[in-house]
Amino acid sequence: MYFGRIPRFSPSFSLKDALTSARLIAHPPEDAPKVQEFERTFARFIGVKHAVMTPSARYAFYLILKAHGIGPGDEVVIPGLTYFAIPSIAVTAGVTPVFADVGLRSHVLDPAAFEAAITPNTRAVVPTHLYGTPCDLDRICSIARRHGIKVIEDCAQSTGARYKGLRVGSFGDAAYYTFGLTKNMTTLTGAMVTTDDDDVAERIRATIDAGAPAPLARARKEAITGLAMKVATHPLVYPLTLHPVIVLGNKLGDDPIHDRFGEPEVLYAELPKSFQQNRPRAVQAAVGLQQLARVDGLNASRARNGRFLDDHLANVPNLTVPEYPEGAEPIYMSFVVHHERRDDLMAALRKRGVDTTTGYMNDCSDHPLFPKFRRPCANAAEIKRTQLHVPVHPSLDERDLAHMVEAVRSACLEIGRTP
Ligand SMILES: Cc1ncc(COP(=O)(O)O)c(C=O)c1O
Repeated sequence: MYFGRIPRFSPSFSLKDALTSARLIAHPPEDAPKVQEFERTFARFIGVKHAVMTPSARYAFYLILKAHGIGPGDEVVIPGLTYFAIPSIAVTAGVTPVFADVGLRSHVLDPAAFEAAITPNTRAVVPTHLYGTPCDLDRICSIARRHGIKVIEDCAQSTGARYKGLRVGSFGDAAYYTFGLTKNMTTLTGAMVTTDDDDVAERIRATIDAGAPAPLARARKEAITGLAMKVATHPLVYPLTLHPVIVLGNKLGDDPIHDRFGEPEVLYAELPKSFQQNRPRAVQAAVGLQQLARVDGLNASRARNGRFLDDHLANVPNLTVPEYPEGAEPIYMSFVVHHERRDDLMAALRKRGVDTTTGYMNDCSDHPLFPKFRRPCANAAEIKRTQLHVPVHPSLDERDLAHMVEAVRSACLEIGRTP
């Protein structure tokens, strides 16, 4: 039986991961050997010398800035469309975020906008491979090199993606990744820094080693949530459980999933104390190793689904589909279309069983959190206003994809006929 009900995402967390988590939380082994094995395997996977596990990507970015001696008086170029936590933690480090615009359809840093944002105080640039789309790294790295600027790659949404055959994260001076439950691989919270620089890796490792171990309660909570997500998004369970909850929530003016996985956008006056409980645990590394072994396969499924949507949604009236920089090999963490009447499209798709989201990225270039650093980016604003993330996750099958294409087409036609 086919219900035609499509969840916005499916977790990479598996039953095997749940069993591993249960075993290692009940009987925790020594942490360091497993963590080192995961770090070595991850470094090899990306194609760099060092990988160091951190509790979050934002803290990873903070530590990368510190390790490069980037601080007060220095400027870092950050794309206008990004996750608030990155410019926020830059401010905590005393660094000035300078926002530069993104490509309207690529959603990633526009190299020309980056170059225009450079001043004598610019010390680093953060090419953010947003939505699984690698930036134009050739141009960004060559501009950075010419100006003596460090390249810190944000791979939070692109673990495993390639640019011209090499993994993102291996191009810049350092990179960071994050492994939350909604990402393409998970370590039950946790993140990673990669770099070829011995000194930078050593400094970051020393800070992490000096902290307290991450509480196992956090991993336990994530494992339970991961398992619940796995069950709730199963094709036989979702139509009868989570889908009606989302539909009802929306009728009541709420998005239950956004509420569960979103977080308040804040500035950190100082580094949160919880950041010091940061030493990764064996259970996180063990799950990470299992996930890493599967991530290329899951990314390939995403890419297959994404290319299908690229082909089949390209000519839908009034709908804008994504574009990708030359040489980018995207992993389609999100498939982001634009529509002038985005909210109407979202409602029309929900009626057709397709759950979508407006996502968590914000236009930070013109945001109440950063009034001192306001530097409006027209494309970031336009994307924020019109973007809609349609499902592209690896659990979609051919029937889902066909259903979705038909749903988007008919929804756009319906909207076109109503004022
Ligand atoms: C592009 C991007 N950068 C950074 C982050 C921050 O990651 P973390 O929550 O691990 O700090 C996220 C989180 O989703 C993200 O999407």
